[in-house]
Amino acid sequence: PAPIVLDSDPGIDDAVALQYLLGTGLWDLKAYTSVGGNLPAEGTYRNARSLSRALRIDADVPVHRGAGRPLSRLPYREASAFHGPAGLGNEDLPDSTAAHPTESSARALLRLSREYEGELTVCATGPLTNVAIAVLEDPGFAHRVKKFVFMGGAAQVPGNITPVAEFNIWADPDAAEVVLSSGIPFTMVDLDASHRWLFRPADLAALEAAGPGTALAARLMRTYMNAYTRHGGDGTCPLHDPLAVGVCGDESFVTAADGAVVVECGSELTRGQTVFVPADARRIYYSESPALTTRLRTTGRVALGPGPRDFTK
Ligand code: BDR
Ligand code: CA
Repeated sequence: PAPIVLDSDPGIDDAVALQYLLGTGLWDLKAYTSVGGNLPAEGTYRNARSLSRALRIDADVPVHRGAGRPLSRLPYREASAFHGPAGLGNEDLPDSTAAHPTESSARALLRLSREYEGELTVCATGPLTNVAIAVLEDPGFAHRVKKFVFMGGAAQVPGNITPVAEFNIWADPDAAEVVLSSGIPFTMVDLDASHRWLFRPADLAALEAAGPGTALAARLMRTYMNAYTRHGGDGTCPLHDPLAVGVCGDESFVTAADGAVVVECGSELTRGQTVFVPADARRIYYSESPALTTRLRTTGRVALGPGPRDFTK
């Protein structure tokens, strides 16, 4: 198994993503680093700890506390309408009794990037605050990680928190801009893909029938599905964060293109918008804007839709 860190703001789909990651057998989870997002940092840290206990990894996997607040000093709104007031649907899971480290999430990311230089995959399923702090503290971080896959953004489709912005990027656009201009080898798993791999009632029935090992995930997914239905959905729900974990192991779950992503950090109207600049267009059209040229230097892979391999299977 390859070394990975999951940086996450649990959150229902974050919790399911963690269980999925553990179940793939592909990964050696070196740390579970929490970040504020779906709830403020203290809430996601508590949920990360209780999930580590519920999934029986708290003896082996350290859980870290995320930054106290986003880099962006913009009004913050939590996502409890989807994830429940305590972030994990109706679950009231007991806290972990393990002695988790006092080292912050960003510091853990930095340390592991040195210990596993050139080998470490980082998967982020929340706002990019911790990753940005790591980059700001040591820009070399961006070049030591093997691969950085994150769930966030909307390249070509409407957003889910505003008409143009996806929640994780909207919640800390300045952090996203730092990370996406750092030179990090990124893959963006955005709404273009996650809104098209849907979890359907038949999938829920199968998960519910699969036995005690998936009972927690099934209860969480039922709550998530109901929340999407309450918000005008059609009885299905997206698999945002699990998809990002899936892409860490196999990019063919999405169809991706090479390019840069620029994040809108100023405008109130378009805050957190992710502007995808395909690699070719970048060469042809934008070479005359020095400011933009610098921001376009980092290129990665950007999901533009579902891929040939079916993620729901
Ligand atoms: C993202 O927002 C969060 O609420 C989910 O956990 C997911 O990471 C989807 O926009
Ligand atoms: Ca999340």
